[in-house]
Amino acid sequence: MDNIIVLENVTKTYGMKDGAVRALSGVSLTIQQGEYVSIMGPSGSGKSTCMNIIGCLDRPSGGLVLINGCNTADMSERELAALRSRTVGFVFQQYHLLPSMTVLENLMLPLRYQGMEKRSRKKTALDILERVSLTDRARHLPSELSGGQKQRAAIARAVVTRPKIVLADEPTGALDSETGGLVLALFADINRQGTTVIIVTHDGHVAAEARRLVRILDGRIAGDSHV
Ligand SMILES: Nc1ncnc2c1ncn2[C@@H]1O[C@H](COP(=O)(O)OP(=O)(O)OP(=O)(O)O)[C@@H](O)[C@H]1O
Ligand SMILES: [Mg+2]
Repeated sequence: MDNIIVLENVTKTYGMKDGAVRALSGVSLTIQQGEYVSIMGPSGSGKSTCMNIIGCLDRPSGGLVLINGCNTADMSERELAALRSRTVGFVFQQYHLLPSMTVLENLMLPLRYQGMEKRSRKKTALDILERVSLTDRARHLPSELSGGQKQRAAIARAVVTRPKIVLADEPTGALDSETGGLVLALFADINRQGTTVIIVTHDGHVAAEARRLVRILDGRIAGDSHV
């Protein structure tokens, strides 16, 4: 199988000199196309930093990052953004829905970037919203949604383009067990269809859905096991 994600000795330092924070201290991790991986670790251990680097939202301070065969160090901001929109669906810890657009429009936007025509965009977006039980909120603004509904909308947006990689940072933190179950079923489904899924979670039940568990501690990989 293909290695879709390769991190080799990746470091990340925020800030400078005296105030510098070392968020990652030499992370090496290889993930193959189609894997389902969970990442666990204490608060502040570097999980979101690692996801941002995998998702091409941030560059490492050192080390090698290959995403879908592309070395991100060699790429311009524009090339990185193109790689990201082609390859990655991101569920952020803080949702990041566009506030002036309805839920439906938020989902249709990445499909427009992919060049899909309007009628198909709408149908594709509504299909995914149904999967996360948000059909009745499609025409609402994010500010009119509950926390859990926003989270489901953010998840729907991340998977709507059928990206090769879906990265989800605490995707079920704001969900009850029923809607959490819907979301996990959706991830399992897209993973069966070949999408690489990586989930950061503090919840052992969520982690148990994955077939590989990576543990991060103090900016290092402290465990990596197939389950
Ligand atoms: N933009 C930033 N500037 C400075 N320090 C940062 C920045 N982002 C993260 N850090 C620091 O880097 C370390 C790792 O942060 P990170 O967000 O990756 O942790 P995390 O494992 O995702 O934690 P949590 O479970 O609380 O989300 C922390 O010490 C954090 O304070
Ligand atoms: Mg985090």
